[in-house]
This record gives sequence, C-alpha cells and structure tokens, in this order.
Amino acid sequence: MPDNDVTRLNLTLGEPTGVTLDPDMWGIFFEDINWSLDGGLNAELLRNGDFAFTPADHAGWGPLTAWQTTGDGSVEVRTEDPVHPNNGTYVRVTGPVTLTNEGFDAVRVSRDDAFRLTAFTWCVQGVGEASAAIVDGAGEALAEAPLNTPAGGWHEASLDLVATADGLGRLAITVPRGLVLELDMLSLRPVGPAGEALTFRPDLVEALRALKPSFVRFPGGCVAHGLGLGNLYHWKQTVGPRESRVPSFNTWGYHQTRQIGYLEYFELCETLGATAMPIVAAGVSCQNLRGRAACIPMADMPAYVQDILDLVEFANGGTDTEWGARRAELGHPEPFGLRLLGLGNEDEITRDFEERYAMVAEALAAEHPEITVIGTAGPQPFGPDFEDGWAFAREQRVAIVDEHAYRTPRWFHQNLDRYDAYDRSGPAVYFGEYAARTNSVRSAMAEAAFMIAMERNGDIVRLASYAPLLARLGTTQWVPDMIYFDADRVLPTASYFVQRMFSVERGETLLPVQIDGVVDVPVPPRAAGTVRLSAPGARVAVTDASIDGAEVAPVEVAEDEVSLGAIGADGVVEFTATRVDGQEGMVIRLGGTGIEDFLQVDIGSWQNKTTVVHTYADGISNDIDGPYAWSGMSTDVPVTVRVELEGERIRVWVDGELRHDVAEDRRPETRVVAGCAERTGEDGTREYVVRLVNATDEPRKATLALPGGPTPWMGAATVLAGAGPDEGLAFEASPIEPRDADVDLAPGQAFQLPAWSLTVAVLREA
Ligand code: AHR
Repeated sequence: MPDNDVTRLNLTLGEPTGVTLDPDMWGIFFEDINWSLDGGLNAELLRNGDFAFTPADHAGWGPLTAWQTTGDGSVEVRTEDPVHPNNGTYVRVTGPVTLTNEGFDAVRVSRDDAFRLTAFTWCVQGVGEASAAIVDGAGEALAEAPLNTPAGGWHEASLDLVATADGLGRLAITVPRGLVLELDMLSLRPVGPAGEALTFRPDLVEALRALKPSFVRFPGGCVAHGLGLGNLYHWKQTVGPRESRVPSFNTWGYHQTRQIGYLEYFELCETLGATAMPIVAAGVSCQNLRGRAACIPMADMPAYVQDILDLVEFANGGTDTEWGARRAELGHPEPFGLRLLGLGNEDEITRDFEERYAMVAEALAAEHPEITVIGTAGPQPFGPDFEDGWAFAREQRVAIVDEHAYRTPRWFHQNLDRYDAYDRSGPAVYFGEYAARTNSVRSAMAEAAFMIAMERNGDIVRLASYAPLLARLGTTQWVPDMIYFDADRVLPTASYFVQRMFSVERGETLLPVQIDGVVDVPVPPRAAGTVRLSAPGARVAVTDASIDGAEVAPVEVAEDEVSLGAIGADGVVEFTATRVDGQEGMVIRLGGTGIEDFLQVDIGSWQNKTTVVHTYADGISNDIDGPYAWSGMSTDVPVTVRVELEGERIRVWVDGELRHDVAEDRRPETRVVAGCAERTGEDGTREYVVRLVNATDEPRKATLALPGGPTPWMGAATVLAGAGPDEGLAFEASPIEPRDADVDLAPGQAFQLPAWSLTVAVLREA
C-alpha cells in the first residue's frame, strides 16, 4: 500500500518513568453466573444429582428436576435419615424404575472413555441388582455396570462406566422389580489420564490457563454477598465431603451445588499459577433485594469476623493450626499463600455496611497484616455509592478500591485520562469488573485502549479483571461475556484475545509515549429526532401530551414503540401516563432512531423500581444517571412526566419532582492509543513491550522513536485485526484471532496498524 494511503503518526518513547507495573495487574473474575460453574467449569455431568433443587433456585424446580422416571415402580422424595443434614433430600426408588438424568446436555461419549459414577445408596428391601448406564436417545447402553447396593445404611458407591460405543448419552439408573433402593449424592465425572475423576472441565481450564492470569477473583460478584443473609457465601459451608456442603440458590436464578467450594477454588488458582482473590461479604447482603441489603446482626458479627480470620488460616495456616490442619486433612497440607482478599462487592455505602466493613478490616489488619484488603465503591464508576465508597476507603486507609464499569466503547475512549488525576497518596485501584457492553471488535478495541491507559497509570491502577468470564450457551443471564461454551465447544471472543495479548506479554517499567499525528474523533452534538414511547410489560395510556408546548393527541403504548412526534436537539416533552394493566413502567426515547445516538429515560425500570437516564452511542447504551429508587407505576394511578433537553443537559421530572439533572459527556473519543513498558528479557537484554490500538476505519503507520536514538529494533508482534467494528456477536466465537508478525524496525521504518486493530510487540535492539 503506498504511503499516502495511510495516516501517519509518530510515537516517541521517553526514558523510564520509574513507575513499575504490578506483576498482579491482569487477572480473571470468576463468578457462577451464566451456568459458568455448575454446568461449566465444574466437570460434573449430572444436574441435581443430590435432589437438592428447590423452587427458591428457580420457579417450578424441585428435588426431581432434571430426572425422568420410567417403569411401573415409584420414586418418592424423602428427608428422614438423610446422608447428611446439610443436604437433606434424597429419593426412595421402588423398582421396576429407570431414573434418567438429563444433565446439562447429553454427554458426548467415545469408545473407551471412562466416567466415574459416585453415589450414596441404601438398600432398604429386596433382592436383585441395580445397574448404572449411559444410554443414548434410543435407550441403547453406551456404557454400563452393575451398581452394588449393600443393605444396612447409607453406602458410598463408586464405579467406572467405560464406553463400548460412541454416541450422545445420559445417565440411567435402573432399579429392578423387588428392589427398594434409596439414592442420593449422585455424581458423574469424566475420568482423567491419571485415573482421577475430573474436578474441572479441561478445555475451559486450558482457555483460562492461556490467559496467564495473575489472580483469580471468586466467588463473585453478586454471588459473594447473595440475596439475603441465607444466601451469603459462607466459605465453611463449601469445604469437606460433598454431602456436608450446604447447597443454595444462585442469585442468578439457578442452583449452587457447592461441589466446587473454597478448596477447589484455591486449587484452581494453583493450577493456573494465579494468586487467589476471594471476595467475602462485608457483613451485608446484596442491595438488589426488595427492601434493601440485609445485615448480619451486630451480635453475630464477631462470629462472622472469626469465619473470615479462619479463612485466612485455612489458606495460609501451618498444619499445627486448626484450619491449616483441616486443609491438610482435605488433602492439601501446603499453604496456598493467600495475599489478596476483597471485602464487599458493589455494596450500597450505608452506615450498616461501614460498621461491618470496619469490624472485619480491623480484625484482618490486627491478625493478618500480610493480607491486602480490597474495598468496594459501588456498581458504577461514578455516582453516590462510588463517591461514598471512595470517601470511606480514604477514611479507612483501604489499600485498594474495587471499581466497576460496564460502559459503552465511547465511554472507554472518552475516559482514557480517568486515572491521570487520581490522588496518588490515597488507595490504589482494582478495576475489578469491566466490559464495553458488547462482543464486537469495537468493544474489544475500547477495552484494549483502556487497558493501555490503566498501564500508563500503573502506579495507581494495580489490578484489573474483565467480567463476566464464562457463559454457557442458552443459559446466560449477562451479556457480554469473555468466553462462551457449550457441552463440546469453547468460543473465545475478541475481548478474550485482547485480555490474552495483554497478559501474556507484560512490561515491567513504564515508559512515557508521546503520540503526534492523531486527531481524536469528535462526538457531534445530539441530533434532533422523535419522541418514542413504549411500555414493555405493561399497557400505558398517554394523555395531556405536548412537545415544545404544542399539544399531541393521546396514545396508548405497550411493547412496541409509538412515536409521539418530532423534537429538536433542545426541547421539552410532557405528558401524563396512566398504566392500564401490566406490572412494569415505561420507556421514553428521544433523538435519532437507527444506531445513532439517542437518549432513553426509564420511568420504572428494574422491575418498576427505579428511574434511569441512558444514552446510546453506536447502538450501545450507558446508564448515565441513576438507577434511583422509585415507588413505581401503579395501575390506574396517573404519573406526570416532563423531560427537558438543553444542550448537553437532561432534566427529568416525575410527578413534579426533579429526579434527574445530568449532563451528557460529548467529549471527543481518543481512538488511537499507544503504550510501552520495558523489561529485562530472559537473556538479560532490554526489551520494550509496545501496545498499539487503532480503533478507527483508517489503517495507519506509526514510526517509533525509542530512547537512545535511531537504533534498529526488531522483534515479534501479535496483531488482532481483520474485522469491522461491528463484527463479533454474543454467543459466537470472535471473528478474528491474533496472528504473529515479525517486526523489523530499521530507523525511519514504521509499524503498520490495520484499521480496528490491537498490536502488541516485543522489541529488542537488532
Ligand atoms: O459480572 C456480573 C455482575 O455484575 C456481578 O455479579 C456484579 O458484581 C456486577 O453487577
């Protein structure tokens, strides 16, 4: 391509700033959301193998969910004399019955594959032999074995089912006529190369290993503090034999078996070569509970604090300590070397939270000064909980604060200077959950640009993790995710490759990069357009409506958008909304219609509980003000609404109350970004790790002036490029994969930066 076809820019690297990047910088966030653990990383192939599902997990679920019964006999759900009181439900099967488990999907079986079945059985009466098999859709056994069922109490059975044919199958337990058998705690796992039943799914582990994460955050997210006190994640309920673990509902609408508990999480970290970052509740549950967060009563807090101290002892204590001995008894005498612990997750910063946080933090500081405690600053990178969380963290001298940002690509490109002005004398930052809202190349590049900005502020931004990590196809509650998967496939997204490229090649000491020749992309003023109304989940009569003072005819709105009329970039729309039926509130959109920028005001979002203002950029939304709690729309109760647009300012009144007064951010987007850090290579030579993002439609060339003059440099680069910004969808694999390239930079030579690309190069003197 001739030179004049590309836009040129010049990068000049300065001398090292003295800022060293935290070796822990790039880690992963793991939460059991989207069936990522039970149904994902947990190699268990049975669903509800312990008959512990309840309607609290999901409406309509119960002890027999995922089990089908055939035969003339019966299956009775029982609770007397369970294997363990912590998992109290089991079944009594009176043959002839075949119980088939639907699993998460059918199990793919190849000849000679082995699967370990474990179960508790109690032969209550009769003669005859029960059997276990993996059967295909036609009922043909792909693998089968007798199930030995002694009488006289609960007996732990373990057998291997070895496939004699290929196919897709499900576990079937057959109890013949004449036999009455009690069954509980069934588990079916692939047998690994060393003859062990696999704990984790190998292909997913490999995808995580390739990310070379420095840390693993677990178990959440929201799962860490749960919906209500009964759902708080208590680590002690998750260790020990499976039957003694306490299953619970999952805040994301399914079930936590707790088959993967704290010991397995620590072992996963070890497998990945990562440090563990448990997140424990700060004595309060998630505030997304009707009626706000539930707090552990003060009288019970000392015991809760002790539990957290015990967790540290479980991780790090010698085998001469109570919990270190317990770890050894469970098969891991060596300590795990826990260093990081998060306290709270996106909590509302209330007095209750602060009191409980301080109790835990003080105890940890006194007993375990080796642990760095990470505080929390709300669900958004701004707003009341963010401000209050930071103020509290400063007051408490918290070492690191966990910030979260699920924002549009535009937000990331507009906020690359976010950390430049952070107070260096206060807490450092853990950017603990973030994603640029979609699985497109546009989003992946925005994340990459922001990651460069985080490294540039590596003296204050010490740790970061994209979220969520994994999602099983067909059972997602949150999009976008970094890796999609189903029973057989792992589908990494463009964001996955961005994370991998940053994590695999890391510099140590930051170098300033001056970029000449880049022009930021302007964000044009908001366009005129139309006012559109809709009411998903309700029917709403709109009366007394006017736009800029001109009367508008009444309309009724429901699921589909109804246009109320044209509105300028500045203007006022007013109306009275009366819900006719349904449970939800309504939505107002103002401005352009396609994927252009427009505004959205929710009058009753989040189950009709809040009001929120969103902006859309490139068809992707950001909540820019709220959600603020609201009493909600009620049927037959009129609500007056007024929205006023004035320049960048948006004001929303509901029933005469000014609920939103917010300015839109229309600063330009910085879409070409470069960063560099040097390091000492394996052979002791100096290497430069250079990162370059070109999130524009034009290919560019970048000359690079390195410190010390016009020496030739060479090395290897990894380039992620080759798709348009809007390619890359949720539930699909990335449209592009990184490719390797040689770099040979004679003086005056330039990097080629394709449109919509990320390049990570490692250079050394030629
Ligand atoms: O990552 C998904 C969820 O987003 C997390 O559970 C929560 O912390 C955040 O709101």
